[in-house]
Amino acid sequence: MLAVPAALFAVWALSATAATNDDIAKRLEPVGKVCIQGQECQGMAVTAAAAGAGARSADDIVAKHCNACHATGLLNAPKIGDTAAWKERADHQGGLDGILAKAITGLNAMPPKGTCGDCSDDELKGAIKKMSGL
Ligand code: HEC
Repeated sequence: MLAVPAALFAVWALSATAATNDDIAKRLEPVGKVCIQGQECQGMAVTAAAAGAGARSADDIVAKHCNACHATGLLNAPKIGDTAAWKERADHQGGLDGILAKAITGLNAMPPKGTCGDCSDDELKGAIKKMSGL
């Protein structure tokens, strides 16, 4: 049943590439720079130092894991600092612990734990407080 002509597929691939290369570059930029083995990686020293100390601040977690979507409201994510938007969600889910639960399991385009797989519940809660101002 895979009767899609190869030529059509090639055209699709070409136009998709042309239309989105810039977008993709833009979207990836704040997520993180690619680190090449053997070369110094900007920002890594700070992260490593924080990890070595055994503690991450809410700011660290937000910057590293949540900013990518919540800074700009990507995919309809509530924006950092937009307390009204966060409060509306919290009210809907029964408070801060309610939206924390959603953040842990994931919600539609919101990935489980907001991509911070090794974040504790408390760390996630701290990050949510930081972003929401609640
Ligand atoms: C890949 C993008 C993305 C990342 C990264 C991300 N989020 Fe989200 N987040 C979303 C989107 C999109 C929504 C809105 C989901 C919806 O309502 O459909 C959301 C919603 C939420 C909500 C509200 C849930 C609710 O019940 O309404 C919380 C809390 C949250 N994010 C916390 C976090 C935390 C904490 C981090 C970082 C550890 C994080 N997010 C990282 C995309 C992201």
